[in-house]
Amino acid sequence: MQLSFLKKSVLLGSALLLASQAFTADTSKQLEITDDSFDCLGAMTKVGEFFVANLLGDLDATIAIASSSEGGRYPAGSMVSLIPSEVMVKHQEGWNPETNDWEFFELSVSSTGSKIAVRGTTEVINQFGGNCFGCHQLARPEWDLICGTDHGCAPLPLSREQIHGIQSGDPRCEMKE
Ligand code: HEC
Repeated sequence: MQLSFLKKSVLLGSALLLASQAFTADTSKQLEITDDSFDCLGAMTKVGEFFVANLLGDLDATIAIASSSEGGRYPAGSMVSLIPSEVMVKHQEGWNPETNDWEFFELSVSSTGSKIAVRGTTEVINQFGGNCFGCHQLARPEWDLICGTDHGCAPLPLSREQIHGIQSGDPRCEMKE
């Protein structure tokens, strides 16, 4: 009885240790990202169904991968968003190999701007209780964790019209008018 309890504790301990190791990212490869790094979708560049930007100024390289029919690895600085509250940002190569150096963000957005609610790698849960990485890792490898509509991820429970409605209702765009 006691032994099995001990075993369980040890197992749980190692699981926690593993989990905490998964959060460890190489901070020397980390871009500085704050609330102010995020913009209204309307200020980003639309490629297909989603919006992109590049925090390091290399927008052309990000657009090239986002619009490629064969996929590819997004360059550092890439920012991708489908709906205002969910954003992926690419850090420098080697930041966190498990997520291909992507960081997942859950934002709370309003007419006054963006606030980072949750950020991280494999552990980030969105407002609907879904794990970002859990879904996005199903994209076939050449798509660099980007789901799109046909990259192998399970579809979102939202119609295209609902997605367009959420995109055009981005409350942060009011700041620009
Ligand atoms: C239930 C699975 C699921 C969860 C959970 C999820 N996503 Fe997605 N995400 C998708 C799918 C599927 C798409 C593509 C939807 C479409 O265009 O029809 C998508 C699209 C996106 C896009 C646009 C680029 C792309 O991959 O097509 C970004 C950025 C994104 N999600 C970020 C996030 C972030 C950040 C989180 C967590 C806060 C998250 N997602 C949680 C499944 C998920």
